[in-house]
Amino acid sequence: MKKPLVGIVMGSTSDWEVMRHAARHLKDFGVPFEARALSAHRTPDLLVEWVASVEKRGAQCFIAGAGGAAHLAGVVAAKTALPVLAVPIPSQHLQGLDSLLSMVQMPKGIPVATFAIGDAGSANAALFAVAMLALNDPALAKKLQAFRAKQTAAVKTARLPGLS
Ligand code: RP5
Repeated sequence: MKKPLVGIVMGSTSDWEVMRHAARHLKDFGVPFEARALSAHRTPDLLVEWVASVEKRGAQCFIAGAGGAAHLAGVVAAKTALPVLAVPIPSQHLQGLDSLLSMVQMPKGIPVATFAIGDAGSANAALFAVAMLALNDPALAKKLQAFRAKQTAAVKTARLPGLS
C-alpha cells in the first residue's frame, strides 16, 4: 500500500456521507490518502497518535471534517505544522453553521483553512490539497489542469432542459 500523502479524519462515521466526496476526489487524482473516523473529544489520545503516525509516514496535509463544536480540525492543527483543511459538517439542529463558525474562528496562531459546509467543502478541500501537492508534482498539476478544462467544457456545452 502506498504511503498516504493526505490524512482525512472525521469526528464520526456519520460524517462519511459528506467526507466521501473528499476521498473520491483524491482517489480520482490518484493521490494516496488514509481516512479515519476519530473524535477529538471521544478518542483524543487515538487522534493525536494517528496524526503523528500519518505525518511520520509522509503526509503533506490533513483534511478534517466535523460537526457541531467542530474542534477536531483545531486539535489536529495543534498537533502538526502541516496544513489542515477543515470541512464543516451539516449538524442536526443548526445545519452546520455552528461547525463553520467554530472552524473559521480559530484563535490566532494555529490556523485551519475552512471550506464550505457539506459536500462542496469536502470536494473543494480535496481539490485544494491536490493544488498544494501539484506545486511539487508536474504530473499531478497536469491532471488538475485537465480536470479544470473538462469542467469548463461541460459548462460550455450544457443545455437547459426544454430549450433547444
Ligand atoms: C461530531 O458530532 C461529529 O463530527 C459529527 O458530525 C457529530 C455527530 O456525531 P454522531 O453523534 O453521529 O457520532 O463529533
